[in-house]
Amino acid sequence: MNAVVQSGDDQVGSMLEKLAKLWKTRAAVNNGLQDYTNLEFEPERHDFSEVLLPFRGHAAWLEASAAQKSKVLSYAWVLYNVKTIYIETNVVAPACEDIIKSPPVTSRNRALLQTVMADAMLDEALHTRMSLEACNYIYAMRDIDYLDFSDFNLVKWRARVLDECHAEWQRRLTRFAIACASETLITDYLKVMAEDSNIQSICHQVTKTHAVDEWSHSSVFSFVAADVLADLSEQERRYFRTILLRTVEMFANNELGGWAKAFTLFDFPGAEAMLADTGDSNEVAIYRASVERLIERLGLDAQRVIYSQTAQSGA
Ligand SMILES: [Fe+2]
Ligand SMILES: [Fe+2]
Repeated sequence: MNAVVQSGDDQVGSMLEKLAKLWKTRAAVNNGLQDYTNLEFEPERHDFSEVLLPFRGHAAWLEASAAQKSKVLSYAWVLYNVKTIYIETNVVAPACEDIIKSPPVTSRNRALLQTVMADAMLDEALHTRMSLEACNYIYAMRDIDYLDFSDFNLVKWRARVLDECHAEWQRRLTRFAIACASETLITDYLKVMAEDSNIQSICHQVTKTHAVDEWSHSSVFSFVAADVLADLSEQERRYFRTILLRTVEMFANNELGGWAKAFTLFDFPGAEAMLADTGDSNEVAIYRASVERLIERLGLDAQRVIYSQTAQSGA
């Protein structure tokens, strides 16, 4: 690993400045609103990457007809986008607002922290719009029933953790830690779809645009975290690390409640057994590795607040 810098060091400030400058040219929100609904719709293409389905290895899935699989993959796209919208609005936006409205007073980078968080919030508003449009486009083109689902485990768990907090500093730190982990994890979450050019064009393009922005956001949140952590106590830093790690499990959750609801909308032989057999099994290890890298870059493993100078330095 290359040189590390103290988070209160000017190098965190100069990276935040660089990220704020890059945002003006790199962020999708600054490159004109794209109308992805103009892209050609090809009914034979799937709307979602099969490899991401939690039950893709189950006998009921393997024995399903092409038409049944296509319908499930359309609902997978819907669930994926609704969850994305919840991450943007319920998880990331509140943490951005905390820093914008009440930045750390002792930070020498106060104005920069506010700027990069306001930039990120603008991006997330655009991502919410993109996800919504792409979701409704698939509803219209496939002529499928509306899936009314909002009971995501990630959102419920976050509310529960916030309820358990005993002080405002803890609630604020919880909101920020869950957002930091999510901003690291969302890049992994989007990666497969962003690289899968076999799926429906709109699904591929929207995810690709989102992934580019989120790659920058993971840097932004890492550097903001380095700054915020500089003035925290050992106890607060340990708490921050605990929440980062706990967020991984929830982020990677299969959200089977959403699937159970989806399978009430159409006939899919063996759906109930398929969900029961799938349970909570998922590839959480892939996600955990990203957050562990963040913990290492922030020096939280050693209870020091350090940041690798080169971590995400291309962003
Ligand atoms: Fe986003
Ligand atoms: Fe983001």
